[in-house]
Amino acid sequence: MKKARHFLTLTDISESELRSLLRSAAMAKRQRTRGSPALAGKIVALVFQKPSMRTRVAFEVAVLQLGGSAIYLGQDDIQLGQREPIKDVARVLSRYVDAIVARTFAHNDVEEFARYSAVPVINGLSDSVHPCQALADLLTIQEAFGHLKGVRVAYVGDGNNVLHSLLQGCGMMGVCVTVATPPAYRPDPAIWQDAVRLGKRHGAALQWEADPRRAVRDADVVYTDVWVSMGQERQRTQRLKAFTPYQVNTALWKHAPRGCRIMHCLPAHRGEEITEQVMEHPRSLIFEQAENRLHAQKALLMMLLGKKRTR
Ligand code: CP
Ligand code: NVA
Repeated sequence: MKKARHFLTLTDISESELRSLLRSAAMAKRQRTRGSPALAGKIVALVFQKPSMRTRVAFEVAVLQLGGSAIYLGQDDIQLGQREPIKDVARVLSRYVDAIVARTFAHNDVEEFARYSAVPVINGLSDSVHPCQALADLLTIQEAFGHLKGVRVAYVGDGNNVLHSLLQGCGMMGVCVTVATPPAYRPDPAIWQDAVRLGKRHGAALQWEADPRRAVRDADVVYTDVWVSMGQERQRTQRLKAFTPYQVNTALWKHAPRGCRIMHCLPAHRGEEITEQVMEHPRSLIFEQAENRLHAQKALLMMLLGKKRTR
């Protein structure tokens, strides 16, 4: 079978590729790239087991603006793993289309997709990681501060998929991260250790802190995400209880330096991980961050599929 290049996790690309992808995303944003022939004649399938607004729409728009076409296949269309096994879906689909964006529950499922696909598979979020989100997060931080190295991010909330990719990206780019989670909801130990090692190599400290007030006190950015991720609905009551002291609200905000910015990958649950006042604060980068999904995903598609491939 032909070997395709996949993007299942941020560490599937090198630091220099990540840097060049961020440059190309910034250029796509400046130029408002549309009507480009970069993906002319290419078809991208989006196979989603979970709902999505940003990932789906940003990919569909990116593909269209680069001259290609996108096909969205929701869970009712394919019934991934129920109507037929992932390995069959991957082998059939990759004979029709030029790339697949997959959003799954188990990370093993997106890996299985990639194992059997002859075309690039992009992880559009799994229970373990959300690498496309981290691309937009890094682009947003770079725009806000003019650089990445040495910027200090405080992540407050759940040690989840969004945090895992953020940690990998920050480690690779030398961004310092202080993570404040309840002790029982710390990030995955293997991903954490790997990110700490990457951070050391690039001069960035990654540390864990139980107290959110201490975590934000030197922060340039405070980042949060939902307490109940897709697929965790049955744990809702116990999670809300554990995370209440980790809400990003005005009381916590007072402990952050003046000028500190706010990030959230969206969708946000106002009144849970973040309050309305903090969400709507003038120092929020949240909607820039959402817009940047489009530019970052364009750069990713060009890297994996475009006529001028970086590898
Ligand atoms: N942030 C993000 O991935 O949003 P969607 O779930 O709407 O795609
Ligand atoms: N952690 C969230 C992110 C949604 C974009 C989830 O997995 O539901």
